[in-house]
Amino acid sequence: MQIAILVNAIHSLSKDMTNFEKLDSIPIGISPYEKYKNWRSQGPIYWTDELFGGAWVLTTFHAVQSALKDPRLSACRTGGWVMRAPGARSNVRAQLIDMQRLFARAMLFVDKPTHPRLRQAMQVGFRPDTIQKMSAFVDSTVNELIDNVEAACDDNSPFDFIETFAQHLPARVIARFLGFRHVDQRRFLTWSSVLAQFIGSVYPSEEEALAARTGLLGMADYIQNCLNNGDFEEEKLFGVLVRAQSRGEIESGPEMLSQCAMLLFAGYETTRHLLGTAVYWLLREPGLWAALDDPARLRSAVRELLRWDSPVQYTGRRASRSFTLYGRDIRRGDLVLPLIGSANRDPGRYDEPDLINLDRSIGIPLSFGSGPHVCIGAGLTLMEAECALGVLVRRWPRLQLCEAGSEWLNIPLYRGLKTLMVRRS
Ligand code: HEM
Repeated sequence: MQIAILVNAIHSLSKDMTNFEKLDSIPIGISPYEKYKNWRSQGPIYWTDELFGGAWVLTTFHAVQSALKDPRLSACRTGGWVMRAPGARSNVRAQLIDMQRLFARAMLFVDKPTHPRLRQAMQVGFRPDTIQKMSAFVDSTVNELIDNVEAACDDNSPFDFIETFAQHLPARVIARFLGFRHVDQRRFLTWSSVLAQFIGSVYPSEEEALAARTGLLGMADYIQNCLNNGDFEEEKLFGVLVRAQSRGEIESGPEMLSQCAMLLFAGYETTRHLLGTAVYWLLREPGLWAALDDPARLRSAVRELLRWDSPVQYTGRRASRSFTLYGRDIRRGDLVLPLIGSANRDPGRYDEPDLINLDRSIGIPLSFGSGPHVCIGAGLTLMEAECALGVLVRRWPRLQLCEAGSEWLNIPLYRGLKTLMVRRS
C-alpha cells in the first residue's frame, strides 16, 4: 500500500516572492522549504549575501551531489568561519585560535592526502558487523527510556519527547560506540549544544564563539583524560583509533583529539534531530504512525523521513581554484554551500517531492552527503532510528501530538525540534 500524504505546512509562507531581495528576507531556520523552492526556480546555483557574508548556494539534487564529489571544491573551510566569528572583538579572536586548531584537523574539514588516511583508519570501527553488534544495546536502551517515561507520567500526561527520549538515546549510543566506560551526560549535552549553536549559526556572536570554545576544549580534555587513563573499552572505536595512532596512521595530540570530539558531537547532534522530526511528522500526518506498525516498512520510512526533513540542511566547501559552474564564475576562495535540504525536495529527482511517501525507495539519502566525505555514521544512524521507531510504535501505538508546547530550533544548519510535546493516549 502506498502511504502518500500531502503536507501543507510548506505552503504556509507567502507565494508571491519573485526577487532575491524578498527571498533573502525570510528567516531560513524555520520552515525553509518554500524558500528553497524559490531558489531552485532560479536554477541550480544562486548567489546570496545572506549567508556567511556571501556564498554560492547549490539548490538541485544534481548540483549538490556533483559538488560533494568535485575535487575543485575543498573541504578545508574552518579558517574564515571560526576565526572571523563576526561578533568577536580582536582580543577574543586570539582566544579562538586553539578552537580553530582542533576544528581544522577534523576529518570532515580536510582534503587529500590527510582525509583518506584518517578515513581508512576510522572506517575499521564502522564495519557492518560492529554496527549489528550494537543493536541489542540500542534496543535495550530504547526500552529503558520508554520504561522511564511510563514510570514518570500517566497515559494522559504530556511529556517532552526530546527531553525524555531523543536527546538521551543518541548520547548513550555514541558514548557506548566510542567505548566510554562512564560519560558525564549532563556536561556532554551542554558541550554539544553550545557547539551546535556556534557551528549552525550564520553569524555567531562573541558569546556563542567563546561558549563553543569552552565546549570543544572541555570535550577534548575529557577525551584526553579517558585516553591517558586507559578508561575506555579497547574493542570499541576509541581502541581502533588508539591502535591506528600507535601505527602512525593518526597523529597523537590535536589530530587524534579532533577526530574523537568530532565523532562524539556528530554522532549525537544529528541523530537526536532525526528522532524528533521523524516522530513529529509521523504523528502530525494522519495514518503514518499506524502505518509503521509493519516492521517491513521501517527501512524505507526512515530513509524517506531523512529526505523529507534532513537534520543537516547544508554543508560547505571552498573553491580551491577559479572555474565556471552552471555558467557562473566561481572565484578561488569563494564559499559554496551544497543545500542538501533543497536537493531532497528537487522535483527533477523525486516524484512528488512534497509528499511523505513511506514506501518511497531512495537508497541512502543525500542527507548523509555524498562522495569522499559521505557520513561514516550512516549505518549506525539507520540501525538506531529503525530500532527506535519500531519499538516506539509497538509500545505506544496511540501516541499523539499535544496541541501546544512544541518548538522548532532556529539554526539554519540543523533542522530539529527543541521541544516536542506528546502524550501516550
Ligand atoms: C541523522 C544522522 C546524521 C546525519 C544527517 C549526518 C550527516 C552527515 C553529512 C551530511 C556528512 C557530510 C558532510 C560533508 O560532506 O561536508 C556527514 C559526515 C560525517 N558524519 Fe554524519 N550524519 C549523521 C550521523 C552521524 C553519526 C551517528 C556519526 C558518528 C558515529 C557521524 C559521523 C560523521 C563523520 C565522522 C563525518 C565526516 C566524514 C568524512 O569527512 O569523511 N554522523 N554526516
